[in-house]
Amino acid sequence: MQKLIVNGGKRLRGELKLQGCKNSSLPIMAGTILCGEECVLDNCPELTDIYSASRILNGLGCKCRFSDNRAVVNSADMNMTEIPEKLMREMRSSIIFMGAILGRTGECTVSMPGGCELGSRPIDMHISAMRKMGIDVKESYGKIICRAVSGKAHGAKISLPFPSVGATENIILCAVTADGETIINNSAREPEICDLCGFLRACGADIHGDGESRIVIKGKNKLHGCEYRIMPDRIAGATYLAMVASTGGEIILTDACVAEIEPFISVLEQTGCSISTYDDRIYLRSGSRLKAVRDRIRTMPHPGFPTDAQAVLMSALVNADGTSIFEENIFDCRYRHTSALIKMGADIQVLGKIAIVKGVPELHGANIEATDLRGGASMAVSALTAEGTSEISGISHIDRGYEKIENAVRLLGGDMQRV
Ligand code: UD1
Repeated sequence: MQKLIVNGGKRLRGELKLQGCKNSSLPIMAGTILCGEECVLDNCPELTDIYSASRILNGLGCKCRFSDNRAVVNSADMNMTEIPEKLMREMRSSIIFMGAILGRTGECTVSMPGGCELGSRPIDMHISAMRKMGIDVKESYGKIICRAVSGKAHGAKISLPFPSVGATENIILCAVTADGETIINNSAREPEICDLCGFLRACGADIHGDGESRIVIKGKNKLHGCEYRIMPDRIAGATYLAMVASTGGEIILTDACVAEIEPFISVLEQTGCSISTYDDRIYLRSGSRLKAVRDRIRTMPHPGFPTDAQAVLMSALVNADGTSIFEENIFDCRYRHTSALIKMGADIQVLGKIAIVKGVPELHGANIEATDLRGGASMAVSALTAEGTSEISGISHIDRGYEKIENAVRLLGGDMQRV
């Protein structure tokens, strides 16, 4: 089992090109199924979750090759409609393949997906939407067996009780080749949804309203292959900004999705960092000690403060001057990183969905274990700020979302080794 060894206390300084986005690469890879031709995806991050998606595609009979941040997927010979349970459990996003396989073949068999341990992560909205689109869904011995009653999915009016990112993506993937029109009310507005729709439009799909809370899709008989560039990863961007801010450093983040990171930047600015943006660049300079964030940090669907950036911001605030309050509104159990931060000397009190973070003068290195992706990243942020050496285990969680995190940190002058 690999570990990260971090010697903290160094100011990070330098220029970093932001990696491609994990959370849009995954549904886009699923979307290649709908084309039946070759798709070329550039700026695809080299991550274990992306390799899992690639294994799913190959298992279905598609051909997926990956090198130098370019995925080439040809789905012409797809001949399977079932995803084996072992692959489903590797990551939660495997459920996104359901909409795409149904859109292409009218049938599919999956099982309950795996993924981060963030409390209960049901898929009831996905299932109920598929049923509205004419899909018969049955559960049998842990398998979810789906079949279009008339051989093909049809359009439907779907009002989501909550703007779920995954459910919105699954509906879009199923709807682009369904018969007729689909309207999604209260759809998720996350930038990754727009990236998926941008890709599908490049393949010939008819979609309007992405980025807003009402998406309209007119089903097409056939899509075609395309070449598409994946957007930058706003959460990896937030993580590196938090790292640099908390070490009192300076960074130019290039190839960044400035508008999409804005909800994070507007909160980080309250810590006293100076942040400016120019085209696709973000420049951050941090003072010697951050200030606590005055306003309560409430995680909300986009364009609110992203739940995926909650843990990394908390790490930047554990040794800020004053008290910051977090309110986690998207997931239960998204404070699992706090016990590791407390072990490093942080003063954090968790009361249900609230976390009260009282800034301490300094953190000290410790042996800690990552238990989920963003929580693991927050431990890396704190280890870089702490005095002394930290050993982070469980880093397979971090590798799901960060491309060679130790190389990025070293490029900025930090001391992080993988052993
Ligand atoms: C996606 C992101 C994840 C991010 C989350 C919220 C990917 C690969 N993952 O996850 O990083 O943290 O959006 O921005 O893109 N829910 C239900 N029933 C459902 C579906 C969801 O109750 O059928 C609940 C979930 O348990 C959760 C909330 O809705 O409490 C939000 O989930 P959702 O937006 O679906 O997140 P994911 O798509 O899983």
